[in-house]
Amino acid sequence: MLSSKRILLIIGGGIAAYKALDLIRRLRERGAMVTPVLTRAGAEFVTPLSVSALAGRKVFSDLFNLTDEAEMGHIELSRSADLIVVAPATADLIAKMAQGHASDLASTLLLATDTPVLIAPAMNVRMWHHAATQRNLALLHGDGIAFVGPNDGDMACGEHGPGRMAEVPEIMAAVRTMLSEGPLTGRRILVTSGPTHEPIDPVRYIANRSSGAQGAAIARAFATLGAEVVFVTGPATVPPPDGVQVIRVETAHEMLEAVKSALPVEVAICAAAVADWHVTSASSQKLKKTKGGLPQLTFAENPDILATVASMTSGRPKLVVGFAAETDDVIANATAKRARKGCDWIIANDVRPATGIMGGTENAVTLITADGAEEWPRMGKDQVAAQLAARVATALS
Ligand code: CTP
Repeated sequence: MLSSKRILLIIGGGIAAYKALDLIRRLRERGAMVTPVLTRAGAEFVTPLSVSALAGRKVFSDLFNLTDEAEMGHIELSRSADLIVVAPATADLIAKMAQGHASDLASTLLLATDTPVLIAPAMNVRMWHHAATQRNLALLHGDGIAFVGPNDGDMACGEHGPGRMAEVPEIMAAVRTMLSEGPLTGRRILVTSGPTHEPIDPVRYIANRSSGAQGAAIARAFATLGAEVVFVTGPATVPPPDGVQVIRVETAHEMLEAVKSALPVEVAICAAAVADWHVTSASSQKLKKTKGGLPQLTFAENPDILATVASMTSGRPKLVVGFAAETDDVIANATAKRARKGCDWIIANDVRPATGIMGGTENAVTLITADGAEEWPRMGKDQVAAQLAARVATALS
């Protein structure tokens, strides 16, 4: 049930706006209060009368309506909701959100809000694939905006592909997930993920095989339990999950700075495969082949992010969790690593190529705590993440 949940529904100008009418009905059936905002373009597709009749409340549409300002200013309107849903989120609305425009009521509300936002994109397939839209979507992902859809299929314009707005039941499911109070609601959690790249020169770098899959799954699992997740990621191949704040970095040094900027947090999960060294002799120009000579690279040790966070004397997270990627004597090495790094828990995994874990979809881990080692059966990385999130929730409760 969504009893007494307040939803601000922004209806953009697309053919899919008709689905927003059904969405209002379904939300109200579940007990939610829906305050509708209709953009000027949205009003070309559905009428204010039908929207307000279904919502049982007036429709807001004008930024400069003095009566509305007297009743409820746009700032208050944007803050007095538990969730803002944008459906359909057109390419234009997405661009405005990404660029921080405040040129009409809808974009001003979205800029002024501190409430979670869920968007249901809907547009022509070419508009969806356009580099500008993809750039804007990446920005919104990074801002922690949650997405539902779009789906693939036949479009009203006669083309086929991604761009169809998610169906109402899918939007309802996403709304329910976002509004459900999980055991980690109100908890701020940091997850580091992915590899780091350490430059040799402007075109070459040192990297590792981490895909970022386990870190992304962990961030998603914590967000699902209601946590506010800050996701600091190196250049991973697996995209970050929706609904988390994403900070992208490249090097270990950048990762450490991003982690510091994300503090304080209650829990830090360091799942990143951070490079141990960087090249001190990194060149600002591309290294050229010279006759008879090979480049001489010199290295220096990178900061240990996990150990830095674990050894904080003030403001240390309540729980600091590390990973130990090992190829030999997994438990012994990981147990020693837990002590050396000063973290509370370590998740040990065997990354010998034969296990297929590094870059794969499954993981076989052993959780090492002060109480000893607990072997978990081999399972999907999503399941490892869900089990870890549940364990953390129990530890914090
Ligand atoms: N880690 C970190 N910063 C580093 C290196 C590692 O935060 N510079 C973290 C990883 O995110 C992971 C844990 O430390 O949680 C262990 O990483 P791992 O690569 O297994 O260990 P190393 O410190 O590299 O130790 P070794 O090379 O001895 O295996």
